[in-house]
Amino acid sequence: MTADPTAPLAPYGAPARSEAAPRKAVTLHRLRAMREAGEKVAMLTAYDAASAGLLDAAEVDCLLVGDSLGMVMQGHTSTLPVTLEQMAYHTQCVARGNRSAWLIADLPFGSYQGNTEQAIASSVALMQAGAQMVKLEGGGWTAPVVRALVERGIPVCAHLGLTPQSVHALGGYRIQGRDAHAADTLRQHAAELGAAGAAMLVLELVPSDLAAAISASYPGITIGIGAGARTHGQVLVLHDMLDITRGPKPRFVRNFMQGAPSVLDAVRGYVQAVKQGAFPDEALHGYSA
Ligand code: KIV
Repeated sequence: MTADPTAPLAPYGAPARSEAAPRKAVTLHRLRAMREAGEKVAMLTAYDAASAGLLDAAEVDCLLVGDSLGMVMQGHTSTLPVTLEQMAYHTQCVARGNRSAWLIADLPFGSYQGNTEQAIASSVALMQAGAQMVKLEGGGWTAPVVRALVERGIPVCAHLGLTPQSVHALGGYRIQGRDAHAADTLRQHAAELGAAGAAMLVLELVPSDLAAAISASYPGITIGIGAGARTHGQVLVLHDMLDITRGPKPRFVRNFMQGAPSVLDAVRGYVQAVKQGAFPDEALHGYSA
């Protein structure tokens, strides 16, 4: 008998649970409950069906189709060249491989900066490609955009700190919010985004104490990357934590392939380390102001 080409992908490797009790789908409700219960949220980037299936089998809570794919998959030096069509394509691929993880897709540069109508149309394209939440970068001016999306039933993840789409304005990939004024601005932007309804907030490359303070008052779920251990969850670029990224990696990245017999084990090791608070190492990676 020939395999049914339309059948969903088989789970990758040995499942963490028995097939009789597959993991329940991760929902926004479940993610909020995790925050309330103090359970850390483990997120990784995914760009294709195979890695999405593997990450889902390893029980990663959230998959992020990040526009980092411009650098990781396409070899660009920034995320700026990535188009909405490319993001929709990769979101479709990830959605086909995923069964139960919460799926977030990045709105790429130029797809939401124009006006609210443009942001809605771009978000609709990503949601129709299979995303359950869209992510956009920036504070202040994005709050009305976030509100408009949320009012239309589109869950939003905001992104503050080092926002890679603004790399040229920020003068490179450097730590944000170091001085008192910059920290106040970040706190203010986080408050505005939370009030606008952004259910999730990525904090990238900000001092650990600032990320902890924002997390304590944020009404949703904060996810850190290079922001210390006191956010509600963590995210890494998959290729960084598997140590297959070319060139030097940021110092907050840990190589989870070290000592792991397989990629599936490495990803499971990441999930376990995040859940147990063993990653990130606050002493090594929590930038102080
Ligand atoms: O594009 C991406 O992968 C991201 C994460 C680094 C947060 O935005």
